Amino acid sequence: MNAIKNTIIQESRKWFDVASREALDAAIEEIRTDVFAAQVLASLSGKYVPWTMPALRPGAMATILNDIVINHRKTIVECGGGVSTIYISRLLKQIGSGHLYTIEHDVNWIGTLKEQVASEKEFVTFIHAPMRPLQKIRTGEWYDETVVTEALRGVLIDMLVVDGPNETVDDLQIRYAALPILKSFFAEKYSLTLDDVNRKGEKFILAEWKKQVNLNFHIVSNMAIGLQPNAYKSFI
Ligand SMILES: C[S@@+](CC[C@H](N)C(=O)[O-])C[C@H]1O[C@@H](n2cnc3c(N)ncnc32)[C@H](O)[C@@H]1O
Repeated sequence: MNAIKNTIIQESRKWFDVASREALDAAIEEIRTDVFAAQVLASLSGKYVPWTMPALRPGAMATILNDIVINHRKTIVECGGGVSTIYISRLLKQIGSGHLYTIEHDVNWIGTLKEQVASEKEFVTFIHAPMRPLQKIRTGEWYDETVVTEALRGVLIDMLVVDGPNETVDDLQIRYAALPILKSFFAEKYSLTLDDVNRKGEKFILAEWKKQVNLNFHIVSNMAIGLQPNAYKSFI
């Protein structure tokens, strides 16, 4: 699997850079997590999954699916579709309830994903929201705020997965707006994830979000998952 191969290559490079035994152990642990997660994900296998570099790593994917099952998440909203859309919708179909709302700026990518989730289509709603300048919150772009908030009117989010939009050279913190804009849609019990927290921009975003929500964050395969103090642990 490409994701695992890339992880092994990345992690192996780290081995040669690290001076300490602790860092080496951490790198090996990351590989172990992704390899184990890939085995767990096999229970949702069916049609081939086109796993590419922008996708969540297996450990992050399995952690999200664990949270859906263990903490009974029913209304999932994700920013940025892909492998996550495929696996979450397959799981919801297997469970027989729940709904995924996928916010995506790229209409052609939505077309590709719709083909991938044709068998699960009643469990997924695609929200096509082109990139637009933000109305408030910060300078920069995010998904069209009006399109997103209108599409989610009346929806109570119990899991928010933030893996988009893609950072740009001019805006490393492009994902920041997700929480301020979507916070008012949270159900009483919810979880929040942010992928790519190994990057400078996401490190900043995570530090800011920690001030805005009362969640305990854990890091798995470069993804942070924030759980309420009374939630069951879902990280792999
Ligand atoms: C980090 S990716 C989202 C990945 C997704 N959550 C997953 O697990 O696969 C962010 C954006 O990159 C774009 N994207 C995703 N997969 C892609 C691919 N294979 N090639 C090019 N762009 C892609 C989509 O527009 C997506 O919203």
